[in-house]
Amino acid sequence: MMSNWGELERDVYAQVEWLLAILQSIHDGVLVIDDQEIVRLVNPEYTNITGVEADEIIGKRLRDVRPNAQLPETLRDGRVRVGVYRKEGEKEYVVDMAPIIVNHRVIGAVSICKGLTEVHKLARELKRNKEKLSELKRTVDSIYQAKYTFQHIVGRSRQLTEMIRIAKRAAESDLPVLIMGESGTGKELFAQAIHQASARAERPFVPVNCAAIPDSLLESELFGYVEGSFTHAKKGGKIGLFELADKGTIFLDEIGDLPYDLQAKLLRVLQEKTIRKVGDTREKAIDVRIIAATNKDLHQLVMKQYFREDLFYRLHVITLHLPPLRERKEDIPVLIESMLQSAATSAQHPVYSLSSEALALLQSYDWPGNIRELKNAIDYAICMTDKTEIHLHHLPPSISKGQAVCQPPVPAQPLKKVLEETERRLILETLHQFGSDVEGKRKTAKALGMSLATLYNKLKKLGIIQTEQL
Ligand SMILES: Nc1ncnc2c1ncn2[C@@H]1O[C@H](COP(=O)(O)OP(=O)(O)O)[C@@H](O)[C@H]1O
Ligand SMILES: [Mg+2]
Repeated sequence: MMSNWGELERDVYAQVEWLLAILQSIHDGVLVIDDQEIVRLVNPEYTNITGVEADEIIGKRLRDVRPNAQLPETLRDGRVRVGVYRKEGEKEYVVDMAPIIVNHRVIGAVSICKGLTEVHKLARELKRNKEKLSELKRTVDSIYQAKYTFQHIVGRSRQLTEMIRIAKRAAESDLPVLIMGESGTGKELFAQAIHQASARAERPFVPVNCAAIPDSLLESELFGYVEGSFTHAKKGGKIGLFELADKGTIFLDEIGDLPYDLQAKLLRVLQEKTIRKVGDTREKAIDVRIIAATNKDLHQLVMKQYFREDLFYRLHVITLHLPPLRERKEDIPVLIESMLQSAATSAQHPVYSLSSEALALLQSYDWPGNIRELKNAIDYAICMTDKTEIHLHHLPPSISKGQAVCQPPVPAQPLKKVLEETERRLILETLHQFGSDVEGKRKTAKALGMSLATLYNKLKKLGIIQTEQL
C-alpha cells in the first residue's frame, strides 16, 4: 500500500520507466503526438523503419517534418486507421493509427508502423530462389526424362510380341520388373517404354549403371550422404539417385554387378520404402518404382552366392526375357527398314534402300551385339554410301571378316540345312569382300571355284537375288 506522496511518485516513475522500456524493445515502430500535433515520443524501431532519428522529430510539429503523415487527421476526426501503406524514399512501411483518448477527450494520437523494406527484400530473395529451384528441377527432369515409348519398339517375331504384351501389363502396375537379355537386346528401351506408359511417366526416369560406378561410391551415389560424413564430402551433402527418382522410376542396369553388401541395403529399400543417406541416422520415405536389368544369368549368380536369393525373389516379380536377335531373325528386315527410315527422316534425305545381297548377309549374320550392333552396321553403311542404295560393300567388314565361315550357324540341325546355310554365308561373305557388281561376282565365282553361271544359279536358288535382278 502507498502511504505517502513520495512513495507514489517513485511508483509512478517506476511505471513510466517500465512502459518506456517496453516501447524501446518492441519490434514495431511507435510515434506519439499530442493534441497540438507535436511529436512527443518515438521508439528506436521507428527510426529503423523510417530512417528518421528521434532528435530530428521530437518536439516538432509532425506535418512540418513529415508532410505526408496522416496522423494529424486521426487527431482531428478521432478515427482509427489500419494498414495504411506508406513509402518515403527507399523506406516502405504499413501504419496503424489511433487516437489517444483520456476522459472522453482526444489528447493525442499514436501511430504504429511495420517495416516492409526487409519483407520485400526477403520476398524478392525468396522469389529468386524459387525461380532457381524450379529451373534446377526442370534441368533434373530433362536430364532424367525417358525418350522411348512402346511405339519405338520394332519387331514382329512371336517372342518379341509376347514380351511387349507382358511389358504393357507391367506398365499398368507398380511392381518391380526384372529384364534379362544379352547386351543390345533392348533392355533399356523396354524399361523406358514401361515407365512412359505408367502412371509415373511425368516424373523422372533415372538410369543407374551398377557396373560403371566404383563399389566405394555406389552407396553414396544411390542414397546420397549428409554433410561431413566423410573427408571429401561436399558441403550440404549430396542427393542420391533414389531421391532424384522420387515418384518416378529408377532403372538399375547391370544389377548382377551390385556388390553383395549393397544388395542387402537395396532389399531394405524395397521392403521398407525408405532410404538412409550415408552418415545419417534418419530414414526418409521414398516412392520409387524399380526396374532392374541384367545380361548375366542371375540364377547362376544366386547359386554361386554372388547374388542374394532374397533380393532375387524380390525383383523377380515380373520378368522379361528379351531374346537375342539371332533367335528372331524375322525382326531383322523390319528393324533395318525402321532404321533406314529414321536415318533418312532425321537427315532430311530420300529414303535408303538395301540390295537383296546386303539384306541376305545381314540376315545370315549372328549379331552377338544384337540390335545395337545392327544399328551400328546400318549407320556405317549409310555413311559409306554416296547415294540412296546400300550394297554389300557398304556394310562393315566385321560382319564377314573374322567370322568362322565354315562353322554351322546353328548346331544340331539337319545336315542339308546346315550345308545350305554355310553355302549361303560363304557366298555372301565372299561377295561382301569383292563387291556385288558383275566384276565382284566374277571374282567371287573364281575364289569359290565355280563358274559365274553356277554362282548366279546359287544366288537364285538360295533366294539371295530375284530372277528379275539378273
Ligand atoms: N525392338 C527394338 N526396336 C527398335 N530399336 C531397338 C529395339 N531393341 C533395341 N533397340 C535399340 O538398340 C539399341 C540398344 O538397346 P538397349 O535398350 O540399350 O539395349 P540393352 O540395354 O539391352 O543393352 C538402342 O539404340 C535401342 O533403341
Ligand atoms: Mg543397356
